[in-house]
Amino acid sequence: MLKGKHIVLGITGGIAAYKSAILLRLFVKSGAEVQVVMTPSAREFITPVTLSALSGKPVVSEFFTANTGQWNSHVDLGLWADAMVIAPATACTIGKMAHGVADNMLVTTYLSAKAPVFVAPAMDLDMMAHPSTVANIELLRNYGNHIIEPEEGELASHLVGKGRMAEPATICAAVEAFFAGQEELKGRKALVTAGPTQEMIDPVRYISNYSTGKMGYAIAEELACRGAEVTLVTGPVALKARHQRITTVPVVSACEMLEACQAHFPDVDIAVMTAAVADYRVASQATSKIKREGHDAPELKLVKNPDIAATLGAAKRPGQLLVGFALETDNAEANARAKLQRKNLDFVVLNTPNGIDSGFGTDNNTITIIKADGTLSHYDNKPKTLVARDVVDQIVTML
Ligand code: CTP
Repeated sequence: MLKGKHIVLGITGGIAAYKSAILLRLFVKSGAEVQVVMTPSAREFITPVTLSALSGKPVVSEFFTANTGQWNSHVDLGLWADAMVIAPATACTIGKMAHGVADNMLVTTYLSAKAPVFVAPAMDLDMMAHPSTVANIELLRNYGNHIIEPEEGELASHLVGKGRMAEPATICAAVEAFFAGQEELKGRKALVTAGPTQEMIDPVRYISNYSTGKMGYAIAEELACRGAEVTLVTGPVALKARHQRITTVPVVSACEMLEACQAHFPDVDIAVMTAAVADYRVASQATSKIKREGHDAPELKLVKNPDIAATLGAAKRPGQLLVGFALETDNAEANARAKLQRKNLDFVVLNTPNGIDSGFGTDNNTITIIKADGTLSHYDNKPKTLVARDVVDQIVTML
C-alpha cells in the first residue's frame, strides 16, 4: 500500500526506539523506501547499524559525516519525503518541533518537510500529562501534523498509564490509511468560496466583515489532500493556498464572486460555500473619493447582493453536492435548517461565533452538520484544519 512512497523515519531517544526497527520493517514490507534520521540520543537506544541494515540506506543523524565532511542536506531530505514519521517522539523533540528549536538533523528536516508529518509520542505518564507536553502536542496538531495517540499500558518506569508508543502496526496502518485517503476524491472537481467580499463605496473605502478565510482555505486544502482538483474563489484575505491541486481565483465583490462561481459550477462535483458574502452593496459607487470637508455626511443607499449559494442551488444537477455554512447567533438550528432548504443545500455546517474559540478569525470552530434528510451531528470544538476533515469526511460519505 505504500509502494514507491518515500518515508523519512525520525527516531528520538526513548525506550520505545527499539520498536522503530519493527516499524521500519513494516514500512519496507508495505513497499516504501525509508530513510532513517536519528537524534544523537536515539543512538543510545538502538544502533544505526540495525536501522541501516533494515532500510538499506546509511542512517543520518549529524549535519555532516565527520570523517568525510559530507554534508547531509535536511532540505533535500524534507523535499524527498512523501511522509515524515517521528516514532517514538519524546517530550523533548515534541517541544523542539513545536517551537522551531532546530538544533539537530531531525528537527531541521521536520521544519523543511513539505510532506504530511505523523508524530507518535512516547514517554512516561506524568510527562505525557504535563501541561507543557499537552500544549506542545496541541501546537503540533494545529500546525496540521497527525498525532498518533499513545496507548495506555505498562511503561518503562513500571508505572501504568498513557504514554506507551502506539504499536508499530497501528502507526503503519495510520500512514497507509492516510495515503489511501489521498485517493478518495481523485478525479473529482470541487469549488470552494472563502473569505469576505468587499463592496466598494468609493475608490478608497468599502463595506466588509471580519472573515479571515481560514475555514474555507482549510477545506480547500483538505479536499486537495484527498485528491480533488479544487478551484478556490476567494475574497481578499491574508492567506495563500499551498496545495498544488488548488487553483485560486481572487475576487473582491459579491458580484465578482458570483460570476466566478457560475463559470466553474457546471464542471464540479462538489461546491462548498464558506465565504462570508456581504449581504448588501452600495447602490451607486462613487468614482472619486467622497470628501469630508465642506460636505454633509453622505447617506449610503444599499441594495441586496445576489445569494451565490442559492443561485448555485437552483442550478444544481443530480450528482452535484452543494454544502453551505450558516453563521447564526440566535435560533441557530431553526435558521440553519431554513437556509438548507432555501438554498437547496445537501448539508449545512452550522457554527455559532462566540469570539473566543469559534467563528471569525479564531483558529478553532465548533460545528453541527445538518443534512437535507434532517439528521444532525454535533462535533467538539477543534482546530479549523480538523473541522475541515470532518466536513470532507461527510462529503466523501455522501458522494
Ligand atoms: N451565501 C452566499 N451568498 C450570499 C450570502 C450567503 O453564497 N449572498 C452563502 C454563504 O457562503 C454560506 C451560506 O450562504 O454558505 C449562509 O450564509 P449566511 O451569511 O449565514 O446567511 P445569509 O444567507 O446571508 O442569511 P442571513 O444574513 O439572513 O443570516
